[in-house]
Formats: sequence, C-alpha cells, structure tokens
Amino acid sequence: MPISSSPLAPVSTAALRWSVRGWLLIAAGGQAAFIGFILLFYGVRTVTGNFAGWNDKPLIDGYIAGDRAGNAVFAAHVLIAALVTFLGLMQLVPAIRRRAPAVHRWSGRVFLSLAVFMALSGIWLSLSRGTYLSVVSAVAILLDAVLILLFTALAWRAARQRRFEMHRAWALRTFMVASGVWFLRVGLMGWVVLNQGPVGMTKTMSGPADIVLAFGSYLIPLAVLELYLVGERSQRSDLKLLAAGVIVLAALYTAVGVFGTTMLMWAPYVT
Ligand code: HEM
Repeated sequence: MPISSSPLAPVSTAALRWSVRGWLLIAAGGQAAFIGFILLFYGVRTVTGNFAGWNDKPLIDGYIAGDRAGNAVFAAHVLIAALVTFLGLMQLVPAIRRRAPAVHRWSGRVFLSLAVFMALSGIWLSLSRGTYLSVVSAVAILLDAVLILLFTALAWRAARQRRFEMHRAWALRTFMVASGVWFLRVGLMGWVVLNQGPVGMTKTMSGPADIVLAFGSYLIPLAVLELYLVGERSQRSDLKLLAAGVIVLAALYTAVGVFGTTMLMWAPYVT
C-alpha cells in the first residue's frame, strides 16, 4: 500500500496542522506580551521624555548621559521592535492573506524593511556603541543580524519574481530569525524555570547553556521550521508525525518560556 494512502495519512496531516496552530497560538500570546512590555515600559518613558528611566530595568547600556546618537538609535531600535513584532505576527494570519492580499503585501514590505532596520541598528549598537556582554554572545546576535539581512533579501526577491512557494519559505525563515531576540528571552527563561535556577549560565552570557541558547535562539526554530516544511510537502505519514511531535515539544517549551519571560523579565517592570 502506498504510504500516502495509509490510514494514518489524514491523522498525520491533521496532527501537523494542529501542532502548528497550537505553537502559533502560544507564540502569538508571548509576542503580544513582548509588545505590551515594550510599549508600557520603553514607550511610556520615551514619550514622557524620561530617557534615563530606560535603565529602571537591567540592561547592558540603555541610556547613557551625553550619548545623543547612541540614545537615539537605542530608542528607535526598541520602539520599532514592537512594530516589527506586530507586523511579523500579522503576516502569519491566513485570513488577511486570503481576504486582503493588498494589506498583506504592504504590511509585508514594511515588515521586511523594518527587519532590515532592526538588524542594521542592532549591528550599530553592538559594534559601534560597543553594547555586548561577551564576545560569544555578540557573535551569536551578529550572526542572527546577518541571517535577517540575507533572508529578507531572498524573501523579497522571491515575491518580486512571483515565486510564491519560495517566497513563503523565505518569509517564514525571516520571521524565525527576526524573532530571534524574542526566542532568546523565551529560551533563557524557559531554561531557568525548568531548572529552577540559572544552571550553566553566567552574568556575561558565556556559560554553556547561554551559548547553546544564544545560537539556538534562531538555529533551533529554523531547524524546526525546515522539518515542518519537509513534513508538509511529504506524502509520508511518519515524517508528518515526526514534525508534529517535535512542534508539540517546541510548543510546550515555548509555553514554559513565555510564562517565565512574562513573570520574570517583563511583568515586574510594568506593574
Ligand atoms: C527584530 C529583531 C530585534 C528585536 C525585536 C529587538 C528588540 C530589542 C529590545 C526590546 C531591546 C531592549 C532591551 C531589552 O529590554 O531587553 C533591544 C536592545 C538591543 N538590541 Fe535588539 N532587537 C532585535 C534585533 C537585534 C539585533 C539583530 C541585534 C544585534 C546585531 C540587536 C542588538 C541590540 C542591542 C545591542 C541592544 C541594547 C541592549 C542594551 O543597551 O542593554 N538587536 N533589542
């Protein structure tokens, strides 16, 4: 019997679809919490001119008295972070893609442009302002920036060439790397919650767990995405079920991480 007509075929297709929906729902909740934190913490302080108040939470540099350029880039970087996160989520809503393709195209262009801005301003903050905790954590985030620039260009090019399958794959990869700093926070706090403490972590983000999570914050989501894309295209039920299983595990870890990040990193500074 061909694998595609096995009795498992509809089950595995449904399992893959629902596992992705489950992960997306959890991730959307976590990204909404991130946006809420940025607006309530950085947004309120910036709009009221209380720039020194950025440092009311632990940061590497944040506000530096007298550093007008650095403070301006920091402000633009953190405030646009809320918009790019929102637009990234918006791109994933199927109803918008189907019913308002023009909105999808425009929000897509703005998302990709802002992702480029986030990467370039992040590179400037790291290299020119010198904001980083350790060389290894800087290399990890700089590699993320390079991937954002590369994937953005590839997603854009595929859309212009009207190669929509390829565009979708590169756009999803762009979403993963542009969410890298969100995944990093979720990954770190998920690890802290599961271990009930910062096991393998240091204050300069150079412990073994820090290093795995710094690179893993975008390489692991990219790997899971590739597995999903392969499972989706494949006729093989076992591959679809494998992808669904991995996505369910990812969703569980994401849920723990979102809980940890919200409770430990964000809520204490906005309540
Ligand atoms: C779309 C992607 C990105 C988002 C959403 C984002 C978001 C943020 C946020 C919210 C902050 C404020 C710090 C905090 O409250 O934790 C921040 C700061 C910062 N980000 Fe990004 N970022 C992104 C990409 C990058 C990249 C690619 C780099 C490096 C190449 C980078 C480097 C930095 C640096 C150096 C700071 C300053 C940290 C400090 O002064 O303590 N960011 N970013």
